[in-house]
Amino acid sequence: MTSQFDHDQHEFEIDWDSDAIVARRNTYYAASQRAFVPYQQPLIFSKGQDNYLWDEKGNKYLDCLSQNLTISIGYNNPVVTREVIKQAQTLQHCTTMFFHPVPAHFAEELTRTMPAGEDWTVHLMNSGAEAIDMAILLARSYTGNIDIVSLTNAYHGATFGAQSVTGISGFRHNVPQLGGVQFAPVPDQYRGIHGEGVEPYLSDLEGTIHYGTCGQLAGMFIEPVQGYGGIVPMPEGYISGAQERVKAAGGLLIIDEVQAGMARTGDSFWSFQQHDVVPDIVVAAKGIGNGFPLAALIVKREIAEAMAQKFYFHTYGANPVSCAAGRAVLHVIEKHDLQQRAREVGAALLDVLRDLQARHAVIGDVRGRGMMMALELVKDRAGKQPDPETMARLFENTRANGLVASKSGAYRNVLRICPPLCTQMEDVPVFEAAINRSFESL
Ligand SMILES: Cc1ncc(COP(=O)(O)O)c(C=O)c1O
Repeated sequence: MTSQFDHDQHEFEIDWDSDAIVARRNTYYAASQRAFVPYQQPLIFSKGQDNYLWDEKGNKYLDCLSQNLTISIGYNNPVVTREVIKQAQTLQHCTTMFFHPVPAHFAEELTRTMPAGEDWTVHLMNSGAEAIDMAILLARSYTGNIDIVSLTNAYHGATFGAQSVTGISGFRHNVPQLGGVQFAPVPDQYRGIHGEGVEPYLSDLEGTIHYGTCGQLAGMFIEPVQGYGGIVPMPEGYISGAQERVKAAGGLLIIDEVQAGMARTGDSFWSFQQHDVVPDIVVAAKGIGNGFPLAALIVKREIAEAMAQKFYFHTYGANPVSCAAGRAVLHVIEKHDLQQRAREVGAALLDVLRDLQARHAVIGDVRGRGMMMALELVKDRAGKQPDPETMARLFENTRANGLVASKSGAYRNVLRICPPLCTQMEDVPVFEAAINRSFESL
């Protein structure tokens, strides 16, 4: 098709001078978007391919962060690129008051990833926090209850609703948060208040419900592996035990798969599937769009019906270009068995971390599954006192040695390693050499 604008061949200037990039951002970004910078010196990226990135000077990096776990199937994935271009060339947006086949295909394909035996429906949005907000609203609408339980050390996003169920002070602002939210202690097997075990944490949850709420719940939020909290996996038996207790109080189990979903943990497509539970609501985002803004609430039909009579609309919800990317992601994960890849390559990377732990006393804990791993630095292994100072130096070293990872955890002493699912066995020695050098030069 031709367009009235075809003759406009304007070339947009992009100034790649490093100082100019930093100065322009510092001048024109609002403080709220400027503040989150991981390294002492800005890191500017100019291109990526599969699981590698290049800065503006041509330095190459092994990516172990996936742009905060969004680049699930690799940079410039040709299947994503092809489908996105195809869609962008025909219709760039179609709001949900009109009909279009691509988002509906994507919704259908997403429901096929869910446990059989339930009638699943999908609500498509743009970001994880937006989906968390909707989960709060939906759980309250469906149950008629207000109280919500979340876990300490959880991260669910930055919007008002999402930060209200986030259990780390650094991510909460100095304003009255949403009412009706209580926190139960996270069953962190390394650093939790009861140490190892499940029952004491389930008793705490009972206490939170009994003493902190009216006894009637809208629901409980759980990340099967806490992400920004520093890769903290829920122990076996906790999520199912929590679901029993929450259900007894009339509430829904809301599983946040924003980081751990989409085959990342290797053993199952969704991380809740390793816990013998069927949630009522699943929140998905980040990796489902491979970098395109896309999020989904996957909900049992009966629950979703609670909002059938009330206007709830996102101008950009179910954008067909993002949904075309989402379809490509689901296809590539399945066709190229990236779940198994995540399991095998993740296990090899974890072996590298365990080997490091045997040689460096500063590493208190190594944990994770699939492409979601962490090492935690401590001042002494017995006391487990967090060591954010050494982490700050290690983190700079990883960059200098060509690795992109993340410094996270409530004490900023955890190195979070979450590479794209397309990372291959041949990348493991690259990782090993870089992380070894990063520790040696501490
Ligand atoms: C577990 C989890 N839930 C929700 C969110 C919020 O997602 P978004 O940043 O897309 O709003 C995040 C973001 O990091 C997350 O890690």
